[in-house]
Amino acid sequence: MVRVFTFASGKGGTGKTTSTVNIGTCLAQFGKNTIIMDADIGMANLGLALGLEDVPVTLHEVLAGKANVQDAIYEGPAGVKVVPSGISLQGFQQANPELLKDVLKDLVEVCDYLLIDAPAGISRDGIIPLAVADDVILIVNPELSSIVDALKTKILTEVIGGHVFGVIINRAGIDKSEVMIQKMEKVLGVRVIGTIPEDPNIRKAASAKTPVVIKYPGSPASVALRNLAGELAGIPMEQRGGKSQEKFIERFSKVLFRGKK
Ligand SMILES: Nc1ncnc2c1ncn2[C@@H]1O[C@H](COP(=O)(O)OP(=O)(O)OP(=O)(O)O)[C@@H](O)[C@H]1O
Ligand SMILES: [Mg+2]
Repeated sequence: MVRVFTFASGKGGTGKTTSTVNIGTCLAQFGKNTIIMDADIGMANLGLALGLEDVPVTLHEVLAGKANVQDAIYEGPAGVKVVPSGISLQGFQQANPELLKDVLKDLVEVCDYLLIDAPAGISRDGIIPLAVADDVILIVNPELSSIVDALKTKILTEVIGGHVFGVIINRAGIDKSEVMIQKMEKVLGVRVIGTIPEDPNIRKAASAKTPVVIKYPGSPASVALRNLAGELAGIPMEQRGGKSQEKFIERFSKVLFRGKK
């Protein structure tokens, strides 16, 4: 059965694109046929994150009725399929967000998982991804403005008949995480499905236009993102570990037990 997840936040810059790209890449690594799509037709950045900013056909052309969505699907890291949005203002003006529903109908025919990177705010084109997904995942930073905006997005999702699956706390500090999770669940009234720590490797990977789970697979953020993808796809814990993580543990054990045999 196909599952459609929309990553939303309300507040901008909380980590929607980072989560969509990396969780999508992990799902592809787990062997799932996965499409990630940029529904932020005004301020597209999913394509930029993967070096796909110069592609000829994007969601803009599809929503303008000038191309089929099949022509706007590109191969990304680990075989994840990517539908980027265009970056031109003209393309944005010509795109009709109402066509998004038809586009999604076509995409769910050809994948197991469809992850939608939603725009920040509550614009007209931002509401459609909240309504059409099976599950909305709220990406929240541990700060008041982000939590308040996430709550607004949750209420809006429910008003328009959508379903909020859970919350991902991104940029979490190491301390007080249990307290933060409990507080977040109480305020938002939804389950925290995982936390992603603050990790400088995310920015380093972003500047290389590569998902952090590929560039730095053993980094704390990558481990968290892989676990989140595993949670969403029901992959058992022991089957989630990246090869580099296993190598790291192997190397670490060798150093630790050196000379003890
Ligand atoms: N866990 C993290 N640790 C460190 N930096 C992070 C983390 N998550 C995201 N960032 C950085 O924060 C910035 C915003 O992230 P991202 O672009 O994913 O957010 P967004 O919600 O998609 O933003 P927008 O609303 O503008 O589309 C990026 O520069 C990204 O590299
Ligand atoms: Mg974004």
